[in-house]
Amino acid sequence: MSSAASALITDPALNVPPRHIAIHPLTGQIGAEIEAGDLSRPLAPEVVDEIRAALLKWKVVFFRDQPLTHAQHVALARAFGAPTIGHPVFGFVDGHPEVYSISRDRFATRHVGEPLIRPWTGWHTDVTAAVNPPAASILRGDVIPPYGGDTFWTNLAVAYEGLSAPLRGFVDTLRGVHAFTAPEGQGTTEDFKEKNRLRPLVSEHPLVRVIPETGERVLFVSPSFLKRITGLAPRESQQILDLLFEHITRPEYTVRFRWQPGSIAFWDNRTTAHLAPRDIYALDFDRQLYRITLKGDVPVGVDGRPSSIIEGEPIEAFSAGTA
Ligand SMILES: [Fe+2]
Repeated sequence: MSSAASALITDPALNVPPRHIAIHPLTGQIGAEIEAGDLSRPLAPEVVDEIRAALLKWKVVFFRDQPLTHAQHVALARAFGAPTIGHPVFGFVDGHPEVYSISRDRFATRHVGEPLIRPWTGWHTDVTAAVNPPAASILRGDVIPPYGGDTFWTNLAVAYEGLSAPLRGFVDTLRGVHAFTAPEGQGTTEDFKEKNRLRPLVSEHPLVRVIPETGERVLFVSPSFLKRITGLAPRESQQILDLLFEHITRPEYTVRFRWQPGSIAFWDNRTTAHLAPRDIYALDFDRQLYRITLKGDVPVGVDGRPSSIIEGEPIEAFSAGTA
């Protein structure tokens, strides 16, 4: 293997054997289950450091049997960064401003009509319409169906390395516009329109961002939010985006996670995209997850140029008074 991501996985700095946690990789390219004891209690600094290193390497890490309260979830998130408000556009759980509810019927509150099935519809990186999308998200399973409702993640660093060198060189130079709008052909509810009107978020990001801690280049394309490539004709833009969206969803870059009550998924939101397949809508089971996102930096492209705001404000860390 010759990719930078593989080089990262063999990077000595990230391969110091952990002494305080156990890491169980789930695939060759992304995802590891971690045993780190009881996450409802304050974590020792060495444990935080080792989880952070595992996250840089494996992009998404999972924990089992951690039935946290909202307050414990917030405390866990604070060990790794600064929680934002639950969602800058769509709000938060009553009494817990850092916590965002992901319920089974969330889609129905935003869109009208049947969900349109396209090969990569639904794949996204969280809140990339903001100039500083979250650095990471920590998602906790509360009510979980007996089957169905899994989540996928894909490794955007290995996806970048999987492009040919000439195409990597080309996408290195591109930037694109990210916004919250309905998928083409899909209507939106009045509530969705009103929330977007009150808190518009549109940003331009490089298609390839560089991760400061590792130097990795990441194909930062978020299919649900990235609408067009700056400077290209509409047909050129759409066809290149289609190619890149199809590419990042190749199975060898992905991991599929089967939830259980008390499961936690913690992902690097700079280097991954994720998908909730719609099979849950064919079932009668409920599903309830809760998410906390950590404040992120403004992405920087290969040329050193940062992302820019087209509409809206950066996402700030939550503090009392900002809700
Ligand atoms: Fe998401």
